[in-house]
Amino acid sequence: MNSHFDSSALQLSALQLAWLHELGIEKPWIPMPRQADQVQVSQARQASESAESSASQDTETKITQTDVAPSSNVFGAQTTATPSRTVSRFAQPVSKILAPVVRAGATETSALAAQAQTLDSLAQGIASCQACGLCMDREHVVVGQGVMQPAVMVVGEAPGEQEDRQGEPFVGRSGMLLDNMLSAIDLGREKNVYVANIIKCRPPGNRNPRPEEVAACRPFLLRQIELIKPLSILAVGKHAAQALLGVEAPLVSMRGQTYTLPHPGHTVPVVVTYHPAYLLRRPAEKALAWKDLNQTRDIVRAITGD
Ligand code: URA
Repeated sequence: MNSHFDSSALQLSALQLAWLHELGIEKPWIPMPRQADQVQVSQARQASESAESSASQDTETKITQTDVAPSSNVFGAQTTATPSRTVSRFAQPVSKILAPVVRAGATETSALAAQAQTLDSLAQGIASCQACGLCMDREHVVVGQGVMQPAVMVVGEAPGEQEDRQGEPFVGRSGMLLDNMLSAIDLGREKNVYVANIIKCRPPGNRNPRPEEVAACRPFLLRQIELIKPLSILAVGKHAAQALLGVEAPLVSMRGQTYTLPHPGHTVPVVVTYHPAYLLRRPAEKALAWKDLNQTRDIVRAITGD
């Protein structure tokens, strides 16, 4: 029997909706009886929403930029702690579905990505994508930042709150640390680096991206890599490395290796290191990240002959 989701019929309070939002549940999933004048929702959409609802009870948390400790570091970063943001997470408005979401997935995003012949047209395709539904909650799509044909393309996980607000990747404290790490080996977004994420829209409440969201967005990243043509890639954090390389391994076992990402006509070497937000929490690991950066620098030097 067809059913329809109608949150207003459930009479949930703003606080209840906020709690659901906090749990990563964008809307209630209790099916309500169809009424004659209600808009039809396709069965495919109902099926995927109901699957999403059960998956959305995942309460795993992502490292956030507010949860950091001050430290000295090997990258010359300014490490004096800035006060954590004090904005209540409940202060965020509970998002409303404004338009039907086409539950497409990797096949459709692959086709969209393949059509893009330039980075600008890829960015337009990404901005129009509704494949996973994250577009409904985001403020800005965060495609990437930096130069074409960079020495290093940095791949992170997903935009956070500040990135969503500004439309740029890695801003805020972890972005500052990332920039300091890169500048320690003479790299920078303005001259020889491009920075992007696996996921282009912010997951609500900074939750970890879900596997279906990663699968839907991955073709955009792969096409982005093809168009940008980096000499090497630095994957920061376990989630980025796993999604990019398609491996399940823990970060410690991925570090210290040089993976290759095959592309038509060429391969791109990939080094894995810690996420800057993790390094802010665990400064002792910066020495290991420094090794990873030197590994990246050596790879680039071997390619360019410098
Ligand atoms: N963390 C990420 O992985 N990417 C960003 O852009 C910001 C924080």
